[in-house]
Amino acid sequence: MIPLGSCTMKLNSTTEMESVTWPEFGGMHPFAPREDVTGYLELISSLEQWLCDITGYDAISLQPNAGSQGELAGLMAIRGYHLSRGDKQRNICLIPSSAHGTNAASAVLAGMQVVVVACDENGNVDLGDLQTKIDEAGDKLSAIMITYPSTHGVYEEAVVDLCDRVHKAGGQVYIDGANTNAVVGFAKFGKFGGDVSHLNLHKTFAIPHGGGGPGVGPVAARAHLAPFLPGHSMAQTELPNYGPISAAPYGSASILPISWAYIRMMGDAGLKDATASAVLAANYVAKKLEGHYPVLYTGGNGLVAHECIIDIRPIQKETGVSVDDVAKRLIDYGFHAPTMSFPVAGTLMIEPTESEPLHELDRFVEAMIAIREESRALAAGKWPADDNPLANAPHTAKMIAGEWNHPYDRELAVFPMKGQHRNKYWPLVRRIDSVYGDRNLFCSCLPTEAFA
Ligand SMILES: Cc1ncc(COP(=O)(O)O)c(C=O)c1O
Repeated sequence: MIPLGSCTMKLNSTTEMESVTWPEFGGMHPFAPREDVTGYLELISSLEQWLCDITGYDAISLQPNAGSQGELAGLMAIRGYHLSRGDKQRNICLIPSSAHGTNAASAVLAGMQVVVVACDENGNVDLGDLQTKIDEAGDKLSAIMITYPSTHGVYEEAVVDLCDRVHKAGGQVYIDGANTNAVVGFAKFGKFGGDVSHLNLHKTFAIPHGGGGPGVGPVAARAHLAPFLPGHSMAQTELPNYGPISAAPYGSASILPISWAYIRMMGDAGLKDATASAVLAANYVAKKLEGHYPVLYTGGNGLVAHECIIDIRPIQKETGVSVDDVAKRLIDYGFHAPTMSFPVAGTLMIEPTESEPLHELDRFVEAMIAIREESRALAAGKWPADDNPLANAPHTAKMIAGEWNHPYDRELAVFPMKGQHRNKYWPLVRRIDSVYGDRNLFCSCLPTEAFA
């Protein structure tokens, strides 16, 4: 299980992936003449229709190569719309403090001024602060960018009211759809207040993206923004007469067959089931961990959306065990760590998705509870603060093969779970000071003299 919150790790079936290896898709030049790409165009057109149907929008562009590029394209569409109406002054973009970092970066790239809106103690946008910021922006309000469900892992219950307030003030609503896997089949952005959204096909629609790419971040919009979606002078079909956002008319076209196959094989009922299972899995983990780890945000009904954020800060106060210790110790238990310290420092964001079977969820929960027990044992004085299974995690094969003088045995170090010796994941390196490298940049190139 890779419980990497916010980056859905889907099960990628062979049937979804196989066509990527076919030269008919992989070997096609992006500017090939129209008569050579009719199959591609058919695939693109059906995918566009399905995605419009899923999101409730009227038009879509598959051109952006990433979610963040979709954000920029969507904000440029909003900007184009305001300019077309003579609203040149509308350049303020409201962004809640829960937002993904790319939101603010995209707004700045689109020439907007970012104003942050506070969140309340449940992780929702604070409507009082929103109204204040709308009033202060006046006729400079361009847009709000919200994420639904939010990066705090909750469905904003007041989302319709929030969209209405922005519309009344003349602004546009951008709904970041990177978490659409918690919405598909149950709600449509374009129907509950969104004007434009991007999707992450490399999350919700099964394109694998471990290690950073490639991605597809389609931007979908209501009809009034359609003329401002990305165009391209060399496209094989009619695109809007507006600037492109990436070099090729259909961006990372060669990986579109993956999402096409996923949607085609899942069908309406399957897609809805996937959403329900993903939300159920996140709530299952949240409930099972209750009493061991505090869940930071829940909705009014005590439930989370597609992910749950557990708070390690009170545990650190009580036991000295940090979020890094828990994340590294999970590796000894055979798990990839969840997202750490995002969007809230000192927390872990767990997103199991619909792909994990119940026994894997249980294995993860068991590991988390065992780690919590270790933290309690540490607080009770069982091991010294600087020499214990948590502080030394992860343990490598090299470490246990060498001299051993720690106050716990090798078995606990590398096989903390029953039966783990049968299927052990061995990390190759021990802990590296996580942020040291980020804060102390150095150049590893050869000095110029070496080339003399
Ligand atoms: C909420 C949210 N918005 C935007 C993005 C940006 O997507 P990408 O990484 O494809 O640029 C992500 C992905 O990490 C995300 O989780």
